[in-house]
Amino acid sequence: MYIQLKLIMKYLKISALAFTVLALYACRYDKADELYVTPDCDTTVSTTFSQYVSTVVDNNCLECHSNANNATLGGSINLDGYANLINYVNDGANGGSFLGSIKHDPNYLQMPDGGAKLDDCTIQKLEKWINNGAQDN
Ligand code: HEC
Repeated sequence: MYIQLKLIMKYLKISALAFTVLALYACRYDKADELYVTPDCDTTVSTTFSQYVSTVVDNNCLECHSNANNATLGGSINLDGYANLINYVNDGANGGSFLGSIKHDPNYLQMPDGGAKLDDCTIQKLEKWINNGAQDN
């Protein structure tokens, strides 16, 4: 009886250890910036120009690239409104200099200029709008 109890305890200890090791291993790759797709990024939300893209651009880019400021602060690159912005989506493959600069593609200047890179989820949603045809929707 005593031996049996000891064996059960031993078995339980090994199980607990195995569980801990597995749990730690499972967490090892939970670094968001190492994953291609942000796990909790909801790309099913609307990514239309009017509801999503223009807001991101307003908040992060127009300080320098607006109608009023682009000549002085934005290297004369005007991203104010769809008609202006679309030129920078179509000036190269895969979303042109607009997406390239946001993704910090080495072929383009890194944007926002002097600011932090936009978060992965925001970039994925902008990319979704582009993959859906970059429409004025
Ligand atoms: C603080 C000012 C500032 C902000 C904010 C800013 N930019 Fe710029 N951006 C510039 C300047 C200045 C240049 C031109 C630099 C040059 O020609 O040397 C530029 C250049 C660019 C270019 C041309 C890149 C290339 O490689 O030809 C694109 C596209 C661009 N910006 C997009 C954006 C987008 C999109 C955002 C927002 C996510 C943004 N910028 C935010 C100042 C800014």
